[in-house]
Amino acid sequence: MAERSIKRDYRKMVFYQIWVRSFCDGNGDGIGDLYGVYKKLEYIKSLGVDAIWLCPVYPSPNADYGYDISDYKNIHPDFGTLSQFRKVLAKTHALGMKLIMDLVVNHTSDEHPWFLESRKGKDNPYSDYYIWRDKPNNWDSLFEGKAWEYDEMRGQYYLHIFSKKQPDLNMDNPAVREEVKSIMRFWLDMGVDGFREDVINFISKKEGLPDGLPFIPAVNGIFNYKDGPHIHEYLSEFRKVCEEYDCIQIGEGPLTTVRTALMYMTGKHKSLDMMFSFDHMMADCLFTEYIHLPFDLKKLKRAFSKWQYSLYGKAWNTLYLENHDHPRVISRYGSERFWRESGTMLAVSYIFQQGTVFIYQGQEIGMTNIRLKDINQYKDISSHTNFHKYHLKDTIEERMRRIHRSSRDSSRTPMQWSDKRYAGFSQVRPWFCVNPNFKRVNVATEENDPNSILNFYRKCVSLKKKCRTLTYGRYREFFPDSREIYMYERVLGEHRWLIICSFAKYPVNVRFPDEYAGLPNQLVISNYHETDKNDMCFGPFEARVYRFPTKK
Ligand code: NOJ
Repeated sequence: MAERSIKRDYRKMVFYQIWVRSFCDGNGDGIGDLYGVYKKLEYIKSLGVDAIWLCPVYPSPNADYGYDISDYKNIHPDFGTLSQFRKVLAKTHALGMKLIMDLVVNHTSDEHPWFLESRKGKDNPYSDYYIWRDKPNNWDSLFEGKAWEYDEMRGQYYLHIFSKKQPDLNMDNPAVREEVKSIMRFWLDMGVDGFREDVINFISKKEGLPDGLPFIPAVNGIFNYKDGPHIHEYLSEFRKVCEEYDCIQIGEGPLTTVRTALMYMTGKHKSLDMMFSFDHMMADCLFTEYIHLPFDLKKLKRAFSKWQYSLYGKAWNTLYLENHDHPRVISRYGSERFWRESGTMLAVSYIFQQGTVFIYQGQEIGMTNIRLKDINQYKDISSHTNFHKYHLKDTIEERMRRIHRSSRDSSRTPMQWSDKRYAGFSQVRPWFCVNPNFKRVNVATEENDPNSILNFYRKCVSLKKKCRTLTYGRYREFFPDSREIYMYERVLGEHRWLIICSFAKYPVNVRFPDEYAGLPNQLVISNYHETDKNDMCFGPFEARVYRFPTKK
């Protein structure tokens, strides 16, 4: 059989994202690592997964848990060694899966040797690796306070769009771009199959670094460092490296619009294969989960459909509902009370759209948000900033409720493998609290239940992968004004599928669109047992996938 090509086949692949520190502890120190990943590769394969995205595994002081890198060509000792990484890669490939790495080059750690050198002075060979100024502009950092920090040793300010410990690299310096290419080659030569590229739309800043609009606090300045003037030039240099290998590049770009995403993925630039969009992650908030709004199904559907319609025939969507930067989706768009129903319905809502499916660790078993009592139990830097900076007039309880709803840490609690001690994640106390619901929500229990969320994910993934229409078919949404139902079709030639999801906590009467009424159909997937396919009263969070074999 011909070797699979990720470049050729990524559109029909399903990805699994691993945030290693919380995935599985293989060496008994309470921290997830590459030994644990190695042990669990068969499990990942059993989900029907084709490729793995590994969040940063490089040495890092962990100011931002791996997104502050101090050595791009090595493995964090907490996670193992380069030799263990090679073993993981070899086994992933032997199981017929691909593996992509996180490429974080907008910034490094302030403990990276380049920064330690750069601080030494203007004559240093690394002097221009970062963005230094005598006077800061008015930009805010996304993680803590102002975007500039004064460095005593250098006698200047450096730019950090994220935390103080994440100085931005100066991508305008050709030497920095050569470093990036060398990092890419290092991993590609070892055999990795591509990159997820962190905040890649921030790497080129507007010349002169002009002040941002002062009335948009926290993201003030973003329009001066997002999609900057040389972004396509720099990305095309990186693209050239990738073209020497069979690999893909997936860009992460906060505030990416359809228009800018198409610029990255099509036309003369075509520097990325796919991009992660964020619109659908804001159906219950304004820009960030910390600014909470009531969940609005119409907003979610508008976001889904906008990307589906706009990219059709031009570019390819990524489909995801969770990752390491967002709280758990059942706790947001579903209901912990209707845990199984909403967890399975949410799977249907996104998997059958057009795009490459991403599943985040624990999503497939329906993990939910954790609610820790004290802010000091949280690890994530942005949760701390939000807590200490905003809504200071609210009571501590109110502020903690916001943290419970919004913290990225809810997606970073240890993976729940069993109902044993520490959820089977580790033999010893894990680095971070296990969600107390692990007795009920865990892989082992769900493996034994044919109706579990876990087995439902397997069913959906398997259907999606074997059906051309559900992969390539045209998308159309019905009843966009409904506040209860999300319904869409996928059509390819004679083949039609209708996907219906109820987001209501109560029973709802549903009807087929007129053009489907009376047509013979087959109910292929349902998240309720013994569903009568002709009974159109949907239970809370019910989801159905119908095949209509013939055209009218
Ligand atoms: C996006 C990453 O997904 C997130 O975890 C990180 O904090 C920021 N970029 C900064 O690297």
